[in-house]
Amino acid sequence: MTGEVKFLLTEKEIPTAWYNLGADLPFRPEPPLHPKTLAPLGPEDLAALFPPSLIEQEMSPQRFIDIPGEVLDVYRQWRPTPLVRARRLERALQTPARVYYKYEGVSPAGSHKPNTAVAQAYYNRRDGTRRLTTETGAGQWGSALALACSFFDLECTVYMVRVSYEQKPYRKTFMRLYGAEVIPSPSDRTFSGRAIREADPGSPGSLGIAISEAVEDAAGDPRACYSLGSVLNHVLLHQTIIGLEARRQLEMAGERPDFVVGCFGGGSNFAGLAFPFVMDKINGKQIEIYPVEPKACPTLTRSPFVYDHGDTARYTPLLPMYSLGHAFVPAPIHAGGLRYHGMAPTVSQLANEGLIAPRAVSQTEAYQAGVLWARTEGVIPAPETSNALAQVVREAKKAKEEGKEKVIVFNFSGHGLLDLTGYEKYLSGQLSDYELSDDDMAKSTAVFADYPTPQNLKSR
Ligand SMILES: Cc1ncc(COP(=O)(O)O)c(C=O)c1O
Repeated sequence: MTGEVKFLLTEKEIPTAWYNLGADLPFRPEPPLHPKTLAPLGPEDLAALFPPSLIEQEMSPQRFIDIPGEVLDVYRQWRPTPLVRARRLERALQTPARVYYKYEGVSPAGSHKPNTAVAQAYYNRRDGTRRLTTETGAGQWGSALALACSFFDLECTVYMVRVSYEQKPYRKTFMRLYGAEVIPSPSDRTFSGRAIREADPGSPGSLGIAISEAVEDAAGDPRACYSLGSVLNHVLLHQTIIGLEARRQLEMAGERPDFVVGCFGGGSNFAGLAFPFVMDKINGKQIEIYPVEPKACPTLTRSPFVYDHGDTARYTPLLPMYSLGHAFVPAPIHAGGLRYHGMAPTVSQLANEGLIAPRAVSQTEAYQAGVLWARTEGVIPAPETSNALAQVVREAKKAKEEGKEKVIVFNFSGHGLLDLTGYEKYLSGQLSDYELSDDDMAKSTAVFADYPTPQNLKSR
């Protein structure tokens, strides 16, 4: 087996601006709405939670936004990340497809999440925030924000989904090591957490619940702002550094992608890799772009496109997105970062317009792909990443059946070195598959009967 494996950019070649897909969309996106008045959201509606610089980015029409020098200084600790050709996986699958992965697991937190955590901590600090509150599912986002807060001298409070807090105790230590306070959610700290615990003392928690707690905490403290690890435009914007680097690295490799793949929870690692390629697709290139989700939490593949809240207690604005319902509590799958009821509005609307093609995989298919990956490529994937991997393996097998030399690029969003409990269960045959039943789906989406929808608002 010969040929180049890693395609590396130098530190001097790190992109110096993020890419805002909003400037190039071929349709007018639906606006987020004020939860009470149902009027399109204005910057002042976000002021209680976010600093002015991030609100400006959230609504910016500008195509490229410069990355501040202080943020680039921190990025250089691990960026540019490598683009790697998975030659050993290709050989194991005997596929004519060429598989490339953008390896985001080299960041200190082990995932893509610091790309936005560092930017958010920087802007908050510059705008005068003293403490950030947030939620975390698998712990990757909490770890990234804890790290970023320690770099920019901010206090950090993390509400961690209880089931993950119990499944992944070392993530808690990881966050505390960087100085963050970590609270299992639902907790007794907040009104919304206490209400959930009263109704269901054994609640495993969900990202929606943890978001409510973090939002409530920040809204009640003038020194604090809230920080979200996915979903919002400014978060997706910061992650586009992944795709901008990958595009240059593919040019170095002399390749044009046929497939771009990423798993999604709220959409940030998928968008980070995919948005620059969505721009290419809008400009006429033939590319299939797959966001991949777990069958246990089938947001893009099965739920309706509606206006819904980003959190369970309904504190947040109404976002135009595919949603399983803000009260949905997903099965306790190990890909904790993919257990979110909604989806980034921009990604939702790309799916709605047919520019991307969502796929769903089962938990065991994801783990099977993760183990194959570890035994061929060596790196142990995060369970979230393995969802993308499962789709990559499907496409590589299809290329073999069809005898076609396809080029597949995917986002290796994080390593799984702190996710060994799930692997232990898989290896001892104790891992279950969960598929959301039609009945449960109907129950969790019943709330939308009284909600505005993008369709009926348009016809007003
Ligand atoms: C490694 C990893 N990949 C993917 C995700 C999903 O989040 P997002 O859709 O925002 O990329 C997470 C979230 O915690 C994660 O930790």
